[in-house]
Amino acid sequence: MRILITGSNGQLGSEIRDLVSLYKTTDFIFRDLQDLDICDFKALNNFIKEQNITGVINCAAHTDVDKAEENPEIVKQVNSEGVLNLVNALKAVNGKLIHISTDYVFDGKNSQPYNELDPVNPIGVYGESKRDGELAVINSSIDGIVIRTSWLYSSNGNNFVKKILHLGLEKKELSVVFDQLGTPTYARDLAKTCLKIICENNSNKISEKRQIYHYSNEGIASWFDFATEIIKLGTIVCKVIPVLTKEFPTKAKRPHYSVLDKTNIKNDFNIEIPYWRDSLKDCILKIHKNKAQ
Ligand SMILES: NC(=O)c1ccc[n+]([C@@H]2O[C@H](COP(=O)([O-])OP(=O)(O)OC[C@H]3O[C@@H](n4cnc5c(N)ncnc54)[C@H](OP(=O)(O)O)[C@@H]3O)[C@@H](O)[C@H]2O)c1
Repeated sequence: MRILITGSNGQLGSEIRDLVSLYKTTDFIFRDLQDLDICDFKALNNFIKEQNITGVINCAAHTDVDKAEENPEIVKQVNSEGVLNLVNALKAVNGKLIHISTDYVFDGKNSQPYNELDPVNPIGVYGESKRDGELAVINSSIDGIVIRTSWLYSSNGNNFVKKILHLGLEKKELSVVFDQLGTPTYARDLAKTCLKIICENNSNKISEKRQIYHYSNEGIASWFDFATEIIKLGTIVCKVIPVLTKEFPTKAKRPHYSVLDKTNIKNDFNIEIPYWRDSLKDCILKIHKNKAQ
C-alpha cells in the first residue's frame, strides 16, 4: 500500500505524519500545497499514477471560515473542485480515499446529536464548499468515505487552543461565546482513526455502502467551556467571561449546535473515542513539552 497524505503540513496532516511509524508495512508520501496542489488536476493525476498511489487521506482544505466569506471562488476551488480532482485521479488507479469534511454542513437547528442521515443545510461559504466536496466523493464510483469532524485542534498550527493559551497569558479577561455547542476534537485522535481505517483490515469497509461517518471526541462543550478548560489546564490566571454570539459578530455565521453522533464509525471500525477533556489534557501536555525542548 502506498498512501498519499495531501495538505500534510496542516493540523491533521502533521498528526498523521507523527504516527505513521506505527504502520511499518505501508508507504506514506506527504505533500502540501507548495509541492502538490490538489487544484492542479494534471499534476495530481500524474503524481498518483507515477508514484503508484493506492490510497489518499485528503487533509488539504481551505479552513478559514471567516475568510471564506470574502473569497468564495478560491474556497470552492480547494474544498470542492480539488476533491473532485482527487476522485477522478483515484478512479483511474482504483485507489481508496478518506476525505475529511465538517460539522459546518449543518445549520445547527438540531438539539440532539446529528447523525449521518440528518439533512444538511450549510449556513456559510465554507460549509457549502465542504458539502460540495462531500458530494464529489458520494456521487463517484470510487472506494471512498467522508469523515465529518468538528472543532479540530492540535499542538501544531494555529487553532483555538493555542490562541487561548497565548491570549490568556496576555490578558486578564477573555470573552468567549457560550451559545454555540459542539465537540472539540484532538486532530491526533482523528489521525489515529484515519490510519486505522485505511491501513488495518477494516479498510475493506471503505468499499461498503456507508459513505459518510461522523467523528469527534466524546462529550459536548460550548466555546466558553472549551476556553475555560484550556485556561485551567494551562494553569493560567485569566478570567473567562461567557458572552452571546450576537455580542461577538464574525463574518461567517456558525451553527449554534453541531454535536455529532459517532455511533456508526465506532461500530463499523471498532473505534474507541476519548472524552474531549482527556484529549485536551494530552494536547496541552504536548504543547508544554514542545516548548520545553
Ligand atoms: N480546523 C477545524 O476546526 C476543522 C473542523 C472541522 C473539519 N475540518 C476539516 O478537517 C480537515 C483538516 O483540517 P486542518 O485543521 O488540519 O486544516 P489545516 O490545518 O488548515 O490544513 C490544511 C492544509 O491544506 C493545505 N492546502 C490548502 N490548499 C491546498 C491545495 N490546493 N492543495 C494542497 N494543499 C492545500 C494548507 O496549506 P496552506 O496553509 O498553505 O493554505 C494546509 O497545510 C479539513 O478538511 C477541514 O475542512 C477542520
